[in-house]
Amino acid sequence: MEFTLPTDPTFSDAATIARVHANPGFGVHFTDHMSRVEWTADQGWHDAAVVPYGPIQLDPAAAVLHYAQEIFEGMKAYRHGDGSVWTFRPEANAARYARSATRLQLPVLPAADFLASIEALVRLDERWVPAVLDGRSDDEGVDDGRCEQGHSGGGQGEQSLYLRPFMFAREAYLGVRAARSVTHLVIASPVGPYFPGGVEPVDIWLEDEFSRAAPGGTGAAKCGGNYAASLQAQAKAAEHGCSQVLFLDAVEHRWLEELGGMNIVLVSADGELVTPETSGTILEGVTRSSVLQVGRDLGLTPVERPVAWAEVVAGVEAGRFTEIFACGTAAVITPIRAIRSNGGELVVPGSGEVSLRIRERLVDIQYGRAEDTHGWLYRLA
Ligand code: COI
Repeated sequence: MEFTLPTDPTFSDAATIARVHANPGFGVHFTDHMSRVEWTADQGWHDAAVVPYGPIQLDPAAAVLHYAQEIFEGMKAYRHGDGSVWTFRPEANAARYARSATRLQLPVLPAADFLASIEALVRLDERWVPAVLDGRSDDEGVDDGRCEQGHSGGGQGEQSLYLRPFMFAREAYLGVRAARSVTHLVIASPVGPYFPGGVEPVDIWLEDEFSRAAPGGTGAAKCGGNYAASLQAQAKAAEHGCSQVLFLDAVEHRWLEELGGMNIVLVSADGELVTPETSGTILEGVTRSSVLQVGRDLGLTPVERPVAWAEVVAGVEAGRFTEIFACGTAAVITPIRAIRSNGGELVVPGSGEVSLRIRERLVDIQYGRAEDTHGWLYRLA
C-alpha cells in the first residue's frame, strides 16, 4: 500500500515542539499529521494517505457512535543515540490488531499495510520524536536540551512518540450489523511517563463488584468498549486514592485478570515471574510477553498460570511474593506499592529491585542501549 503524502506539508515551529517535549504529559499533544486508510465492503482498503491532523467528519448515525465497533493499538517510536527512530515488535501489534478486528467484525488490515501506515506518519512527523536525555547515551550530540523533564518523579529519560492506530465503523446505519464502511487512522503523541509519578510505585484498587471481561466476551481484543467498561471501577479506584484498578475474573471473582489498562506481574522470592495466563479474558500484552522473555534472559522463570487473590495475600504476607508490577506500552513497568480493597491494604514488601532491573533492560533495548538479541526493533526513520 502506497501512502499519498501532502504535497506541501506544514509543521509546527521548532519552539512549539520544544515546548511540548519539555513537558509532554501523556496523550495530550499531537503531531501535525495522521495516517488514514478507508475501507468499504465494495472496494476493500483504499485511499491510503497521510493528511493534516485534525477533526474528522462523522455522520451522527455512524455505527461506532452507537454500537462501539472500534479497535485500537498502543505503540511507541523511540529515538536512539545516533538519531535514528525505531519501534518495538510492531508485527505483534499488527497481529493483535488483526485478531481484534476479527472479534469486532471489522476488516483485517494486512500487517504490511499496518506497518506502512505507521512508517509513513513517523517519517513525515519525525521532528516530533523526542531526543533522549538520560545521562547514559554515548552520543552527546543528540542531547539538544529539549527533554529535560517529563512528569516529575522519574522516567525523564524515557520520552517517546506514542503511536495510536485505531479503526472504527463509519457507516451511517442504525441497524446492528458490521459496518460496510470503516476508517483506519494513526495519530501520534509525544509522551513522558503514563503515571504522573513516573516510575514511583503506585497504589492499586482491587475491584470486587465490577468485571472487565467475561469468558466469551471481548477481553482479549483491544477495543474501546473494554476500556469504557473499566471506567466506573477506575473512578472507584481514584476515590480510594489509587491510580489503577485490578480486575478479578467475572465468574468467581477470585482470579487475577488485569488492571484497567495494563497487565500485572508478581515476582517471587525464588525467582519466578508469575502472571495470569491469557485465556481469552485478558489482553495479550506485547510488553507482558516481552517482560517474560527479558525475565528469562535475566535468569528468572516466567510462569503463566491462574493466580488467585487469596494466593497473592498469603504469598505477600509470607514473603513469597516480594514485588508486584504493572506493565504495558504506556506504563512500561511501574512497581506497585500496595493493593487496597474493602478488606484493607496489602503492602508489597520489596524495594522493586527486580522489577526495575527488568524495566531497565527492556527500556535499554527499546532505546538501542542494549543488544536487541530477539530482533524486536524495527527501524522507522
Ligand atoms: C497502552 O499501554 O498502550 C494502552 O493502550 C493502554 C492505555 C492505558 C494507554
